[in-house]
Amino acid sequence: MDRLHINGGVCLEGEIRIAGAKNSALPVLAAGLLTREPLKVCNMPHLIDITTMLQLLGCMGVQRVVDEKMNVQIDSSTIENLSAPYELVRTMRASILVLGPLLTRHGEAEVALPGGCAIGSRPVNQHITALEAMGASIAVENGYIRARVDGRLKGAHVFMDLVTVTGTENIMMAATLAEGRTIIENAAREPEVVDLADCLNQMGADIKGQGTDTIVINGVRELHGCSYPVMPDRIETGTYLIAAAATRGHVKVKDTRPHTLESVLSKLEQSGASLLVGEDWIELDMRGRRPRAVSLRTAPYPAFPTDMQAQFTALNAVAAGTGSITETVFENRFMHVHEMNRMGANIRVEGNTVFVEGVDRLNGAPVMATDLRASASLIIAGLVSKNETTVDRIYHIDRGYECIEEKLQSLGARISRVPLR
Ligand code: UD1
Repeated sequence: MDRLHINGGVCLEGEIRIAGAKNSALPVLAAGLLTREPLKVCNMPHLIDITTMLQLLGCMGVQRVVDEKMNVQIDSSTIENLSAPYELVRTMRASILVLGPLLTRHGEAEVALPGGCAIGSRPVNQHITALEAMGASIAVENGYIRARVDGRLKGAHVFMDLVTVTGTENIMMAATLAEGRTIIENAAREPEVVDLADCLNQMGADIKGQGTDTIVINGVRELHGCSYPVMPDRIETGTYLIAAAATRGHVKVKDTRPHTLESVLSKLEQSGASLLVGEDWIELDMRGRRPRAVSLRTAPYPAFPTDMQAQFTALNAVAAGTGSITETVFENRFMHVHEMNRMGANIRVEGNTVFVEGVDRLNGAPVMATDLRASASLIIAGLVSKNETTVDRIYHIDRGYECIEEKLQSLGARISRVPLR
């Protein structure tokens, strides 16, 4: 397992390009299961989660061709096995995204039940209930979800009890080939849901209302292939901007979509950052000043994203004043706090809120990454620390950040990867 070594104290400065969005690429790859024709997915990020999804498709017999520009072509005309095994699902919960496409196109599917994970129990009951409302018979046995339907799924009026991103995506994909109209109420409005809907529409689906909380899908007989570039990663964008703000730096991120980050940009402005925003770039300048602490509360889009709260905790740890961060989406997403306190931060957890009193500077320490976004926050903490920080278990970060150490090095950070046997 590799480690990252960070020598903090450098203001980040320079320009970087943002990769394609992981949370968009994963459902778009799963959408390749909905057609016999090839689907070409462009602007693919280079990440372990993407490799896992390609492996999952491969073990079903789907052909995958990666070209020299990292575009991936999926051809599921050769599919021979409708099962997603536990060995892959346990490493990536988003594997559940193959359930809707397999069931709607082939009338059956078997997907291992994702277990708990570091950030909470994360059930998939909403996915199952909605597919049942569309006529599927579903049994959960021996750790697997086994779903079948005679003929086609039927369009249904689906009310989601809570806002679920992959739940909305799974049902939207299932509904594209269902008989009749499906209406998803209380749908997730995340930009990645819109990106998937746009891709499905290019494949011949009839979806309206994406980006609102009511999505209407008129089922069609067949979808066809297309070439689709996934949207830029808003979480990667935000992470580099927060790192720049925490280190009092000046960074421009390019090839991104600023309008998908409004809640995050507003918090960065409150922290004292000067922002310039173009059509596909954002420039953040702290002018060497210490950030001010901010308070925030996570909630589904367009509110502040849960995937960005840990990074703001790192910023608050060295900011002037006290900030509170309330997590309302997941039940156990403060694992990074204990590691930051070991680095000299002053953070107190009370229920689902952390109170962070900024200190002048953190002290480097050996720390352990526990999940994807927590790892990013520990790297930011390392960047604002005296002495050396070592971040262990960085396979978590490789799941969701492309070449993080190269990108940070290009901004002047003293960070290196140490391969361990
Ligand atoms: C997606 C994102 C993840 C992000 C999360 C919330 C992908 C691949 N991952 O995860 O990065 O952190 O959205 O923005 O897009 N829930 C249920 N029952 C269900 C489904 C969800 O109770 O059937 C709960 C979850 O436990 C959680 C909340 O709903 O508390 C939101 O989860 P959800 O939006 O489903 O997260 P994911 O789609 O797994």
